[in-house]
Amino acid sequence: MSIGKRSIVLIFLLLFVTITFFGFHQTLQKPIERKDSGIGEPSTPIYEHLKNYTLKDLASRCGIMIGTCVSYSPLLNDNKYKEIIAREFSVITPENELKFESVHPFRNVYTFSRADTIVSFAEEHGMKVRGHCLVWHQQLPNWILKGNYTREEWIEILRDHIYTVVGRYKGKIYAWDVVNEAFNDDGTLRDSVWLRNIGPEYIKLAFKWAHEADPDALLFYNDYGAEAINSKSNAIYELVKNLLEEGIPIHGIGLQMHVRVEWYPNPQSVAENIKRFRKLGLKVEITEMDVAIRLPVSEEEITKQAEIYKSILKTYLNSDSPQAFVMWGFVDKYSWIDYTFPGYGAATIFDNEYNPKPAYYALIEAMLDKIGS
Ligand code: XIL
Repeated sequence: MSIGKRSIVLIFLLLFVTITFFGFHQTLQKPIERKDSGIGEPSTPIYEHLKNYTLKDLASRCGIMIGTCVSYSPLLNDNKYKEIIAREFSVITPENELKFESVHPFRNVYTFSRADTIVSFAEEHGMKVRGHCLVWHQQLPNWILKGNYTREEWIEILRDHIYTVVGRYKGKIYAWDVVNEAFNDDGTLRDSVWLRNIGPEYIKLAFKWAHEADPDALLFYNDYGAEAINSKSNAIYELVKNLLEEGIPIHGIGLQMHVRVEWYPNPQSVAENIKRFRKLGLKVEITEMDVAIRLPVSEEEITKQAEIYKSILKTYLNSDSPQAFVMWGFVDKYSWIDYTFPGYGAATIFDNEYNPKPAYYALIEAMLDKIGS
């Protein structure tokens, strides 16, 4: 055999060995096993280079905190849930445990043990806590919903509630959603027990009392559907501008960011909205982001979901002095979307088996882009 022919045979031999080896190797590794989470598998191999980061490390390099809401029962019973929160997040919000019906079930009874558990967990892991929420039209106990009191009594009830709840966590909760969802989409004030029985002043009174109870806490107005410039965010803007002019202690706006793959705010408009609140001297936090998908979920929607998470985080990171980006849950299996909006789900960044979804890596990428820039 001439040298030329021998090299050709050798090259073919090498090619054969390489192909067989990699084929075999891949079967052995079987990197993506289909989980029955209903959302398709995370495309792990293409994210291989991103897998050693954590959200909270990158967030801290971007100068922000990143977080999730946390629920008492999985925190108690599901180790994986606990582990991932501890590994990935720097700020948490109790999902329901600080709401009126949870902490104040009867007029003279306050129940803090569940909220305490979550706050202690945060302390043990060096995380900050957002307090959610003091005044809201939902999740109220019957003694409030069916209560028949004079205006003075209503004022006393709300004052006592705010003093007691904020007072208990003084120095432990860095920010409170003092008033939650007070506006309708058209910018009118939403009907609620508080509006009906106290009048529109309930808003400023709530901020005043929260400040008296913990002068160091940052006090937020929090709402959904007010992320971009629209009738609701215009109304909020007018409200907080007036509050500031009157010297009422309000420090920030919470943009909830409950969105859907088929509906999400224009990032440019979100950027402009954040800018106008920042110009008033207010902080802006993303407080409850999730991206719901109509079931059954397709690969395209999972990809689109990742793009939406990424573009909102990017928009936020590029705003003036961002400080906290919080999601309303991080694992699909405990997300409120599934039990609140039948037909929708898969709204978070980990699937039911705690596999990171493309949305998780999209957040990592958004932060790496920011650090690189
Ligand atoms: C939701 C919780 O996630 C659910 O578990 C509960 O049943 C209802 O409330 N905006 C808010 C949050 O401000 O408090 C809501 O949380 C989601 C919408």
